[in-house]
Amino acid sequence: MTASARSRSNYLNDTGYPHKSPPHSNPRTASSTSNSSDRSFNPSTTWITFLGRTGICQGENHVAYSIVATRPGGPEVLQKKETEVPQPGAGEALLRHTAIGVNFLDAYFRSGLYPWSVESDLVLGSEAAGVVEAVGSSVGNVSPGDRVVYTAPNGAYASHRVIDAKTLVKIPDGISDEIAAASFLKGLTAYYLLHGSFAVKEGDTVLFHAAAGGVGLIVGQWLAAKGVRAIGTAGGPEKCALALDHGYSDVIDYRKDDFVEKVKELAPDGVEAVYDAVGKTTWRGSLKCLKLHGTFVSFGQSSGAITDFNISELAAGSFHATRPTLFHFVGLPGWLDKASAALFDQIGSGSVRININQSFDLADAASAHTALEGRQTTGCTILTP
Ligand SMILES: NC(=O)c1ccc[n+]([C@@H]2O[C@H](COP(=O)([O-])OP(=O)(O)OC[C@H]3O[C@@H](n4cnc5c(N)ncnc54)[C@H](OP(=O)(O)O)[C@@H]3O)[C@@H](O)[C@H]2O)c1
Repeated sequence: MTASARSRSNYLNDTGYPHKSPPHSNPRTASSTSNSSDRSFNPSTTWITFLGRTGICQGENHVAYSIVATRPGGPEVLQKKETEVPQPGAGEALLRHTAIGVNFLDAYFRSGLYPWSVESDLVLGSEAAGVVEAVGSSVGNVSPGDRVVYTAPNGAYASHRVIDAKTLVKIPDGISDEIAAASFLKGLTAYYLLHGSFAVKEGDTVLFHAAAGGVGLIVGQWLAAKGVRAIGTAGGPEKCALALDHGYSDVIDYRKDDFVEKVKELAPDGVEAVYDAVGKTTWRGSLKCLKLHGTFVSFGQSSGAITDFNISELAAGSFHATRPTLFHFVGLPGWLDKASAALFDQIGSGSVRININQSFDLADAASAHTALEGRQTTGCTILTP
């Protein structure tokens, strides 16, 4: 992306940086996968310390590769590029990725909707799990051999990466790498939506769009565990049935029915909050579903950006509106530890089941993007190196 293209950016996005116009592309059917895994480090490894770095020597030549977007565009801009295995510096860790989560965020970056920090060859991906292979000096929170997960903007579509060790969280026993990689960004998002953007309480009624999606299935179950009545929307009868099985009390097929009318039937006084990451096609209707003083949480735009919001629209019901971004929460002191513990607790207790309904080879990330943007996916999607 050129500097002039970046300067046309004019909306806030999920990274806290400005962005410009909407993404989009074509559909393709995805495959399914199981949740099993324990790809930890090779037991025949030997431990070495060299030049201030501690790591694992596996007696083999590591060939690293990344999936890069060569320029902003459709899934066809994604290419595999071989790289040297990077080495960690002070405060950093080298990871061998075992599973990588796919998020709509990746498509926003790939398309150029969100600004790039590099001119070309942007490594996408903001959520992954892996094994620590080496650490630089001054790293105290993780050690070689640890299974870890993280969320950070871009850089995850790679077999290996070096990352600031402070972003890493150890994966508890009993949670697989795949589950952790699939759910970390999405689950932390669910956490801040329900505890920060609009702190739900037992007895509330809320509306959540795209309820059968990656974030949607996690949120539905978490809301149910909190005693909140969750009304969902989803595209098509199969997605509606899936969402109903994941905590939602009612799910409206918003490709068939007028969701505003349906919500008025289900909650005549309106809902306390609407969580809307569909954006362009839903936001006006979302405001009409709120009760007086209700909260509009706009946290994404899978159908396209909201370009015509006027703050006076909130006067219709003295509404509150917020446009949050996960990484602004992750940066708060102590937040990552607290939120990840809460997420792992929900998963570990079985309150929140993580559905990995699509899995692709990392080298085939383009097919994952095509499926996600084509509304062909449900639940979580992962890539495996
Ligand atoms: N702000 C943040 O911090 C943050 C963090 C994480 C995620 N998000 C946002 O949360 C949303 C969900 O993320 P996700 O990764 O879990 O994705 P997802 O929900 O699995 O996929 C997006 C869904 O949006 C719906 N959709 C409606 N209109 C669409 C259109 N025109 N094109 C494509 N999809 C459309 C589709 O569901 P139906 O077929 O059921 O309509 C689709 O499955 C995204 O908007 C993402 O950007 C925001």
